[in-house]
Amino acid sequence: MSDSKVNLKRRTLIGAAAASPLLAFAAFKPREHGGGHSAYFAKLQTALRDAGLWRPTLVVDRQALEHNVGRLQAHLPQSKHYRIVAKSLPSLELIRFVRERTGTDRLMVFHQPFANFIAERMPDARVLIGKPMPVGAAARFFEYLKPGAFDPQQQMQWLIDTPEHLVQYRELARARHNETGQPMQVSLELDVGLHRGGLRTQEAVAELLMLLGAEPSMRFAGFMGYEAHASKMPAILGGPRKALDEAMAFYADSVTTARNVLGSGFDERTLTLNAGGSSTYQLYDDAAPCNELAMGSGLVMPTDFDKPTLADHRPAAFIATPVLKALPSTRLPGIEFMSPAFRAWDPNTARTFYIYGGYWHADTVSPPGLQRNPIWGHSTNQEMLNGSEQVQLGVDDYVFLRPHQSEFVFLEFGDIAVFDGERITAAWPVFQQGA
Ligand SMILES: Cc1ncc(COP(=O)(O)O)c(C=O)c1O
Repeated sequence: MSDSKVNLKRRTLIGAAAASPLLAFAAFKPREHGGGHSAYFAKLQTALRDAGLWRPTLVVDRQALEHNVGRLQAHLPQSKHYRIVAKSLPSLELIRFVRERTGTDRLMVFHQPFANFIAERMPDARVLIGKPMPVGAAARFFEYLKPGAFDPQQQMQWLIDTPEHLVQYRELARARHNETGQPMQVSLELDVGLHRGGLRTQEAVAELLMLLGAEPSMRFAGFMGYEAHASKMPAILGGPRKALDEAMAFYADSVTTARNVLGSGFDERTLTLNAGGSSTYQLYDDAAPCNELAMGSGLVMPTDFDKPTLADHRPAAFIATPVLKALPSTRLPGIEFMSPAFRAWDPNTARTFYIYGGYWHADTVSPPGLQRNPIWGHSTNQEMLNGSEQVQLGVDDYVFLRPHQSEFVFLEFGDIAVFDGERITAAWPVFQQGA
């Protein structure tokens, strides 16, 4: 029976359920489902075994990544530069891969140790800090900066959102200016509708621009306006297009304010006018007042990014983990006698699998039919999964999951295993949180 017919039948049953408890039972009783790995996951399983990766592993599919980079290049308006959101692709090798294909040297960075690491290991990058860091974190960046090719006065833009932060950063900028004779580059965070902080009025934008203009140790380097809310805006509130138009109208006003305040010192070509994110970048055209778009997650596609605006991107990141134990039944301590009743109600609780690790921010994708046991709960050591007799899974097989997001989940597994469609061909180290 087709899915739509099944749904219709179910809806009819739910409607009738109010009238009859027997029908209610039929409407809500879970149906048995499950299966084996698709040809794709079977191949990936073989590749992981051949590579000896008998532990939880973060896999990136090189071909899917390549496809997503291709989509980015196809959609990016001609007049916009691309900036890599480093937190969402937290591996130097992964960033190198994207840099080689897109030709960008622009990175957005959100964590002081990552900033130091990038300055040391990728000294030709131009870095925009994506959030207003505590000034102490900025000071620590300079303290830990190793002498090398990276010139922070030229290649680093710090993000400021309030007059208070500006005053704090000014102290640091003056000290740096005494040492280097060069100004600190400062971008201003705009609130273009997300309401995650940033400047909300043109008066506030003008106030900070005037403070910056009067300070030789600081240079106004541009704006950052993030609009992740736009892709989530429901039609009843005007939908994504309207939210983005409003965001860009505020952005354009801010550029005009900068032109007015800075006068002859205003040169748009030297400014970084940053906007965008994965879920919105496809909505932009050349007319937008920004001159670059940031995005990262959409290149690996964790499940939070399964959105209509990224429909032509492909999942490129999976968690793979071996099955440690495959038990023929599900027995919960103290209520063993309930097992037949649980199974009679939900045949998908019939069997139990314990996997290596678990409790990640992730959803199981293969084999189909696995579910969590709500009574047993979670384990980061040996997670329990249940499945029906139809689930084809044994000890030493792998379970595959898709992470909800990349920025933290990628850091939980050690090196990324790169899958080329047949084999694991590379190990890409990930960033160290506290290095
Ligand atoms: C300032 C800023 N720009 C852009 C992004 C977009 O990142 P991604 O494309 O990974 O969603 C983010 C994500 O948090 C952000 O905070």
